[in-house]
Amino acid sequence: MKSASDRDGAGSVRSGMAGNGRAAVPGVAAPAPITAAEFARFQSWLHRISGISLADHKKTLLMGRLGKRLAATGMHSYGDYFDLLMNGARPGELQLAIDLLTTNETYFFREPAHFDFLATQILPHRREIDPLRIWSAASSSGEEAYTASMVLADTLGLGQRWQVFGSDLSARVLDTARRGHYPMTRAEKIPQDYLKRFCLKGTGPQEGTFLMDRSLRERVSFAQINLNANLPDIGMFDVVFLRNVMIYFNIETKRQVVSRIIAHMRPRAWLFVSHSENLNGVTDQFEAIKPSIYRLK
Ligand SMILES: C[S@@+](CC[C@H](N)C(=O)[O-])C[C@H]1O[C@@H](n2cnc3c(N)ncnc32)[C@H](O)[C@@H]1O
Repeated sequence: MKSASDRDGAGSVRSGMAGNGRAAVPGVAAPAPITAAEFARFQSWLHRISGISLADHKKTLLMGRLGKRLAATGMHSYGDYFDLLMNGARPGELQLAIDLLTTNETYFFREPAHFDFLATQILPHRREIDPLRIWSAASSSGEEAYTASMVLADTLGLGQRWQVFGSDLSARVLDTARRGHYPMTRAEKIPQDYLKRFCLKGTGPQEGTFLMDRSLRERVSFAQINLNANLPDIGMFDVVFLRNVMIYFNIETKRQVVSRIIAHMRPRAWLFVSHSENLNGVTDQFEAIKPSIYRLK
C-alpha cells in the first residue's frame, strides 16, 4: 500500500464505523418503552419517506437506535420525539433519525462474483461511444462504488472514459463515501495488488486507516438520492448495483423503485441485485442471466 500523510485531505475518520450515538446517556433517565401506537407511527412515517418496511418485531431495534436521540433532545417518550420530528422545530433531526434507522452494512468486494462478472463479461464488450457509467444505487459508505472503480481502473485503465456514481438516502454514510477514507480493518477483502495500487496507507495521525487513491476519488462521485421518490436528472447508466436494499422494501415499493431505475438504464444495461434478492414479481423487463445478474431486454 502506498503511504499517505494527512495532507491527502482525508480528514479524520469519524463515527459511522465506531460511535454511532446509540449508547445510553449517563445520568439521564431511560425513556419509557415504545408503545404499539407510537411504533405504528414510526413504521408508517418511515415507509412513506423511504419505502423501508419496519417489521412489527423491530421495536427493540428502533429503541436501540433512537433512544439516545430522545435523551439528546430532552424527550421523555417516543411519541414526544415523533412529534418533535414532525413539527420541524429541530431541522436536521429528521435526517439524523433517518440516518439511524437505515441499515448501512457494506464492505469492499462484497459478493465478489459480481465484480468478476463485471471484469470478464461486461467490460470487454462495452460500447465505446459513450463513457461507461456505473451506479451504486444504495451505496452506503462507498465501498461498493470504490470496489467497482478499482475493477474499472484495473480492467480498462485510468486512460479510458468511465465514471462511477454512488447514491444513498443517508447523509451520514455519504460523508464517509465522499472522503473515501476508511479504517484499515475495512481493507480485509481488497486484493493485495489493488491495495498497493489504489489505496494510500495512513501515516502519523492517520495510522490505521487508508484513503482511496485520488485518481479513483476523482472518478467516483456521490449524491443523496431517495429511491422512493422521483429521481433527479442523473443521466443514463450501463451497469447498476441495487444490492441489499430491496430486502427492506415491500413488493409494491420494489416495483416502483425498479421502474424508476430502469428509466436511467441504457439499452441492454446490466443490473446486479444481491444473492438474497431477485426480481420475481417485480418486473419482466429484464432477462435473468444468472442468479442476481439481470440484463435489460
Ligand atoms: C445494507 S446497505 C447496502 C449497501 C451496498 N449496496 C451493499 O450491498 O453492500 C443498504 C443501504 O440502502 C440505503 N437505503 C435504504 N432506503 C433507501 C432509499 N429509499 N433510497 C436510497 N437509499 C436507501 C440505506 O441508507 C443503506 O445505506
